[in-house]
Amino acid sequence: MNYLEKPTINDFKKFLEIYEKRPFKNNDGGLKISHAFSLYFFLKNFKPTTVIESGVHKGGGTYIIRSACPDAHIICLEPYLENIEYKISNCEYLNEDFSLVDFNQYNINKDKTVVFFDDHQDFSKRFYEIYHHNFKHIIFEDNFHEKNNYGDCYSPKQVLANCEYHYTIKKRNLLNIKNFCVYVLDYFTKFLRFKNEYKIKQNFKYSHLTSKLKFFPKDNYLTKATNKYLKIYYEFPQITMIDPGRKFNKLNLNFIYKDEFKFLNEDIKNYYNKSIMFDYDVINNLMLKNNINLNEILNYNFMCYCLFDFKQD
Ligand SMILES: C[S@@+](CC[C@H](N)C(=O)[O-])C[C@H]1O[C@@H](n2cnc3c(N)ncnc32)[C@H](O)[C@@H]1O
Repeated sequence: MNYLEKPTINDFKKFLEIYEKRPFKNNDGGLKISHAFSLYFFLKNFKPTTVIESGVHKGGGTYIIRSACPDAHIICLEPYLENIEYKISNCEYLNEDFSLVDFNQYNINKDKTVVFFDDHQDFSKRFYEIYHHNFKHIIFEDNFHEKNNYGDCYSPKQVLANCEYHYTIKKRNLLNIKNFCVYVLDYFTKFLRFKNEYKIKQNFKYSHLTSKLKFFPKDNYLTKATNKYLKIYYEFPQITMIDPGRKFNKLNLNFIYKDEFKFLNEDIKNYYNKSIMFDYDVINNLMLKNNINLNEILNYNFMCYCLFDFKQD
């Protein structure tokens, strides 16, 4: 697949010219440099006619998508449309969940459409929706690691590893009484395996469906179904190695989940350094020169591309 080719350092330098002009330097809660570059480079090579971005936040990801494919029709799904700061043309902004959108109203060529999920919703739910719509090219941003049950949604990586999943909430702001109660409830319901839930929030202009699965068992049907239809599974590598010696103390604990933090301690070499694009010093220099916060390279979460083929049914 030539759209999965490995980028060169020149590709990265060209990307930095785009990244330099991003609408906000601090895209907290959104894409950072590693995933932004992978998404950009993939889209640039793939040349989609339509991109669906589920989870827009301030619009930092939309900027990357638009820069990579200036002519594509973009469909942006976000419950809090009022929070979007960067808006573009040739783009639909809908505050509806992916499962509720009537995609038939748009002239979509599924072979040339990329769905970019960056909405922290469970892959278990998304898989059936992708199947239903017969979408083929999927990028999943929140691809939490299977070796650790952290993360706030069930990821493709966890599904493919056929691992048991327990929802864990971010263990922070526990001084807030509401967070504390939710945390305590969550802690106990973790052991009550029936406590799955799908919430439908109706206080939006249009309905907004959001899901937080509490538990998913091993040996589930979803793993088998995913394996059956998945033709390519590709994890975008990090732009460079996370240097545990130099960077570890500076990890931003607001971003890193507590469990993940433990995991990084134990296994950082095996997992976070296994597949990198460029040499650390080269990236370090380029980022310093372009005034990009070095902590951005820590924000890596195994974002993946999946090619599905549902034709066989
Ligand atoms: C990680 S942020 C998205 C970041 C954005 N793609 C970027 O690159 O800057 C996640 C967003 O998903 C939104 N969200 C939550 N539930 C959603 C749903 N069911 N469908 C679409 N977006 C949802 C949240 O409001 C939040 O803005």
